[in-house]
Amino acid sequence: MDSIYIDSDVDDRVRRQSIYEGELFVFSARPSILALCEFARELIEEAFGSFDPQEAQHHLAADEYVAILARLKPRFVHHPRSKALLQRILEEFGCDLSKTYFDVPRLKSVTHAGQQASGLTYGIHPHRDTWYSAPFCQQNWWLPVYPIGMTSALAFHPRYWKEPVRNGSSQFNHYRWNKYARKSAADNFDDYLQNQPRPEETIELEPQLRPIPPVGGVILFSGAQLHSAVPNSSGKTRFSIDFRTVHLDDVKAKIGALNVDSAATGTSLRDFMRGTDFSRLPEQVIGLYDDEPLGDGELVFRPPFLEKPTV
Ligand SMILES: [Fe+2]
Repeated sequence: MDSIYIDSDVDDRVRRQSIYEGELFVFSARPSILALCEFARELIEEAFGSFDPQEAQHHLAADEYVAILARLKPRFVHHPRSKALLQRILEEFGCDLSKTYFDVPRLKSVTHAGQQASGLTYGIHPHRDTWYSAPFCQQNWWLPVYPIGMTSALAFHPRYWKEPVRNGSSQFNHYRWNKYARKSAADNFDDYLQNQPRPEETIELEPQLRPIPPVGGVILFSGAQLHSAVPNSSGKTRFSIDFRTVHLDDVKAKIGALNVDSAATGTSLRDFMRGTDFSRLPEQVIGLYDDEPLGDGELVFRPPFLEKPTV
């Protein structure tokens, strides 16, 4: 990684290639992103009632707080309007919807000082999404819902773009994770943490980059980037949205970022839906990435809501 493109107008193909080479893209406010933020705020503010959502962590009991998030997050994730707004974003950013596949947008929250700890509020440790069976052509889109600053940002660790990190990804299989582990995000914090691949050596967190877009802005980056949530010391809960995209041509051609240290098995490609009609990727294309037999079909069981282990 050596460049950050600001409000770049290169086309989607060139942008994807640059992302695979480790560059970051940061955009200032766009109408389609603002519309998604506004919708998220509506749901968030409705869920917290009379409380300011960014302050509610200081006023609610832990079980009450987690219960609100456990209702709020799946509502946003599976709301038809979320998908429709995401289509508008892809259009505005020049993506070919007939070949661009996305997974559902996730609503994330990281509490100030790690309070109200659960899998629904946890600020994630340094990781690459590829440690969690993401394809190397995955692009991550990350955007703040309320204003953020340097104490509540997303951090990138550029020296590790080319440098391997000893990690636990060889123990991670996407199908096992779906079946057994992710459902415990709300109620079993220890299980949630233990089941995630993490660095198995000391990471030098500095130097790090913290792009800070305004509300309505977005950061685009490769799923192979080492990234983490900055420990939130802002005094407020950080709400953000993230989603991922892949382009059919790149999936077929197995184009993407270099793999420096990921050894996860299975693939998350079944999570992705086509931008036009929400159809899934063809099985024969996914088969290019399946390194384990699917067995009796149970292995692709998809629970109604799962908190992805990403920031
Ligand atoms: Fe992530």
